[in-house]
Amino acid sequence: MSDVYILGIESSCDETAAAVVRSGEELISNVVYSQFATHQPYGGVVPELASREHLRAIVPVIRKALNDAGKSYETIDAIAVTKGPGLAGSLLVGLSYAKALAYALEKPLIGVNHLEGHIHAVLLEERQKGNRELEFPVLALVVSGGHTHLYLAERKEKGWVYHDVGHTRDDAAGEAFDKVAKLLELGYPGGPVIDFLAQHGNSQAVKFPFAQIKHRDRNPQNRHTDDDHRVDFSYSGIKTAVLRYVETHDMREKIEQRRRALAGLATRSPADYLAVCDQQTLDLVASFQRAVTDDLVSKTLLAAREHNVATLFVTGGVAANSELRRSFETRAAEEGLPVYFPSRKLSTDNAAMIAAAAYPRFLAGEFADAEFSADAALRLR
Ligand code: KG4
Ligand code: ZN
Repeated sequence: MSDVYILGIESSCDETAAAVVRSGEELISNVVYSQFATHQPYGGVVPELASREHLRAIVPVIRKALNDAGKSYETIDAIAVTKGPGLAGSLLVGLSYAKALAYALEKPLIGVNHLEGHIHAVLLEERQKGNRELEFPVLALVVSGGHTHLYLAERKEKGWVYHDVGHTRDDAAGEAFDKVAKLLELGYPGGPVIDFLAQHGNSQAVKFPFAQIKHRDRNPQNRHTDDDHRVDFSYSGIKTAVLRYVETHDMREKIEQRRRALAGLATRSPADYLAVCDQQTLDLVASFQRAVTDDLVSKTLLAAREHNVATLFVTGGVAANSELRRSFETRAAEEGLPVYFPSRKLSTDNAAMIAAAAYPRFLAGEFADAEFSADAALRLR
């Protein structure tokens, strides 16, 4: 089969992204426009603002991805776009544009699940490195601002199938990073700042015990036939525990001082946050990060044993976390399990992962029809 160049488009949350990938194995161009500055003052993504920013960015971002790849609209073979899950208004911007492009250019259009995209970010980079020795089945932890999911991923004759073997019952792990950062006036998104600050704190200073989830998921939609082997997560409790710690240790005044000190800065680097953090705050974020990463690693390894997998993938925005990477590397090695992450650039949202995930669908001729629309709550199977 000759080379297939797919233009990927991603707009499910607060990144407008486009990329060109060759045959699911070579990243040719990758453009990501992040809306951090827009959402930063609110400490989280504001959906209406996100849609507006996507509308502004989509055309220049796609043009740049094509230019960087030395491609034109005419010389790509297919267009892939995120169908869901994500913010409805944001998804619609990328999807409408992709649909119009496909129609005007008479090119095939492929809808991709965002979570499948995160899994294929790992596959794309491993293929690009020449690694064709991956062993299956794979257990993939997709851990981001919107998701904490464990999938068994298997390659079948006509593409991939995914089996949900665990997910968060409430907040996603990245959401906990973002909410704790917001509470402590450490900006948005919280993950990268906490990652940096945690290196300067004592991760044993505060104990955050995690409840083991034993009850069945009350949402019938989330029930599975093999519920006995499920490993689920929960991250809303730790956010409340951090809040309680702040209140019982009289940290409010320090937080307010930090807010005032940072208010004058147009842009803020992690070092700016470090300069306005006392040791107690550094210890608190280090302990929080340690608790979340320990829980993610322990439960993923438990699921790996339950399902007897050969390989682990850890992907999504939180997979950029240094401590999570270190801890997975050490503990998976102890169990003789190879673990793969995307590069930091492809851990967070991007369109290269969408173009890569679309390739098997291109080969199988799974193209979107005229009814194709966004699905904010799309599930991965
Ligand atoms: O995958 P992503 O870009 O978007 C979603 O699909 O949600 O993930 C964004 C999330 C945010 O919650 C952000 O705080 C978190 O990933 N994140 C991190 C790090 N870098 C990004 N969390 C912990 N440590 C990091 N270094
Ligand atoms: Zn994502």
